[in-house]
Formats: sequence, C-alpha cells, structure tokens
Amino acid sequence: MLNNLKPQPADKILALMALYRDDPRPTKIDLGVGVYKNAEGVTPVMRAVKEAERRLVEEQTSKAYVALAGDPAYSNAMIELVLNNVVDRGRIAAVATPGGTGAVRQAFELIKGVSPDATVWVSNPTWPNHVSILNYLGMNHTAYRYFDSETRGVDFDGMIEDLAGASAGDVVLLHGCCHNPTGANLNQTQWQTVVDLLNEKGLIPMIDIAYQGFGDGLEEDAAATRLVASSVPECLIAASCSKNFGVYRERTGLLMAISEDAGNTAVTQGNLNHLNRQNFSFPPDHGARVVTTILTDDALRADWAAELEDTRLGMLRLREQLASELQRASGSDRFGFLAQHRGMFSRLGASADLVERLRAEHGIYMVSDSRLNIAGLNETTVPILAKAIVETGI
Ligand code: LMR
Repeated sequence: MLNNLKPQPADKILALMALYRDDPRPTKIDLGVGVYKNAEGVTPVMRAVKEAERRLVEEQTSKAYVALAGDPAYSNAMIELVLNNVVDRGRIAAVATPGGTGAVRQAFELIKGVSPDATVWVSNPTWPNHVSILNYLGMNHTAYRYFDSETRGVDFDGMIEDLAGASAGDVVLLHGCCHNPTGANLNQTQWQTVVDLLNEKGLIPMIDIAYQGFGDGLEEDAAATRLVASSVPECLIAASCSKNFGVYRERTGLLMAISEDAGNTAVTQGNLNHLNRQNFSFPPDHGARVVTTILTDDALRADWAAELEDTRLGMLRLREQLASELQRASGSDRFGFLAQHRGMFSRLGASADLVERLRAEHGIYMVSDSRLNIAGLNETTVPILAKAIVETGI
C-alpha cells in the first residue's frame, strides 16, 4: 500500500522554513513564515502566558477530557474578545479547534456537508493553505480580485465586480484584518459595501481572523468582523490565538457559527461537536486554558494587551523605517505602501525570480510570491533589506 503513495507538493511557506534552517550564512534574514520575532530574533513566550501557565501547573488537578467543544469558558472568552457582544450569544455555536487552521478546516467541512454545491470565494491571493485545504476536500472554489499589483492596495472595484457574480448560498472567505499575504486591507466604507453586497445577494461570510491586535489595535482589528457578524443572518468565524497570544505550537483556535435564529443554535452546536469528534475528538486544551486564564483575569489581561500593543507598535515602526530606507535607497516613493499595510505581512510585488535572487545573493528569505514578514526584521536588518531590494532591481 505505502509503495503506491505519491509525493505531495511541498507547502511553500514550510519549505522555506527548512531552506532557511539549512543555510549556513550567518547574515541570513528570515522573512518567511508568519511567526513574530523580537529584535533579537526570538519568538518570546508572552509574560501573561508564562504567568497563566505557572498558575495552571500549580492549580490544575486533572487532565481528564473536557468536552468535544472544549471548555465553554474558553468559547465565551474568545467570543467576547472577537465580537464584544455585538451578536446575541444565543445565536452563536462555537468549538475549540487545533489552531486557526483547525477552525478553517472545520468550517470548510461544515460547508461541504450542508451545502455541497456552494462555491467558496477566496481573495486573490489568499493564505495558500486556504486553497490547499479546499482542494484537499474537493470543494468548489474560485477567486475574487483583491490585490492591485500596481498600487499594492486593494482592487476594491474588481473585488465587488467579481463578488457580484456569486450565487445565493455561496460562501465568501474574508480576512478579518491584516490580510495574509498582502497586508492590504479594506477601509470601513468598503467593509460596509461588502456587507451590503453579502445581504443583497444572500452570500454567507466566513471570516478568518488570525492577527487581531497586530494591525491597528485589538478593538480596531475586530471592527470589520463585528460589523459583518452583526449585519448578516449567518456567519462563520475562524479565530486563531497563535499570533496574538504567541501560543503557536499549542494549537489554539475557535470556530464560531452564527445562526439567523437562536432556535437553530443547538443543532449547529451539535454539528460542530460532531465534526470535532470525527476529526480528532477532543480539541487541545492547554493553550485554550492559558488564553481563558488571561482573558478572565483583569491584571493578566491588561498585561497581555500591553505586551501585544508593544509588539504591534514595534512592527509599525519597522514598516515606517523600511519605507523610508527604501525611499532613500531607491530615490522614489514607490515603496510607500509598506507603511500603509497592516499586520505581519506585506507583499512587495516582485517576481519569483527576483525573490529567488534575494535569497541566493543576499540570504534574504521571503515567500516566492514576495510576501515578507515584517516581524523578521530589526532596526539593523531594515537597511540591509532596503539595499538588497534596490540592488536586485525590485
Ligand atoms: C503563515 O502564513 O506564515 C502562517 O499562518 C503560518 C502557516 O501555517 O502558514
């Protein structure tokens, strides 16, 4: 049997991690995978996470199973963090999942089970694993225009024109904030236009929110998700704690499914529980418990929010520094978009060949679509990157 297996295509983000690891050059710079790194290149355990873990070690008395949906206290805390009570809690079913990817996977499976003919509309581009999972599940999907490679902003007219071609019951996958991989985001007015279109055409939004707190602030980054969720009859939301709590390897996510009518929530909840049971049974608990401990303790929550805010401001400073170094090095304003983008990523808009030259000649690693992780930089490496970008002719 195993002899018949075919090699699988490498995930381009994970393949890049391995290439970087094996590069012996001491000057190499990793701008690949979406993991936050501080100025010393370390992905720290956040202070509040350490403290919550210390409490758990001291106070936890059992590792027995919790529930298929995970601990309800975790769902409640996360629903409050993401939605801040803008939707009646009675309409929301939720399950803990292994990371944001687990939530995305469960959402897709839910759609596939209940609406096998629906098409899932994804932004062009989107996080590559969205498309990979849709293909793996054999689901109908298509792309809507999103990134304008000239302005490096959103091609909003193209987006709306494409989504106007969707059929009632189709699902539109939206990035709640900090679009991955481009860093280009809709403004408030544009979000309202999207909401109007969703309602007019009977489309179902699925929001992937994996970077809350990395863009304009914890509340600001949730604003679009709250607007959509409170304005449509049904909505799916896949939330991740990997980045904003720095608990990547603990696999901590939540899938929320909002029904039109609270009378439907119990059945929706049962379906979500069933999906967990079929795929992996009980979701991981440790990260979820750490997150709950932080969100339900005023002092811990304030400390976590403060550290997250420092992280966010540090990334913004790097963006501004990079944009101005590039302006100096290139003598033009064409990289100004880097300061406008938000979140961990920006798409430079360079060809795969030039990205490869950056890697080969300068030891600078970014994803082949020219996505760079701003958090992989520090004050010292920003000028090195700017010089390399200009020298490479990007
Ligand atoms: C990324 O986009 O780099 C992250 O979300 C990590 C991943 O799993 O791809």
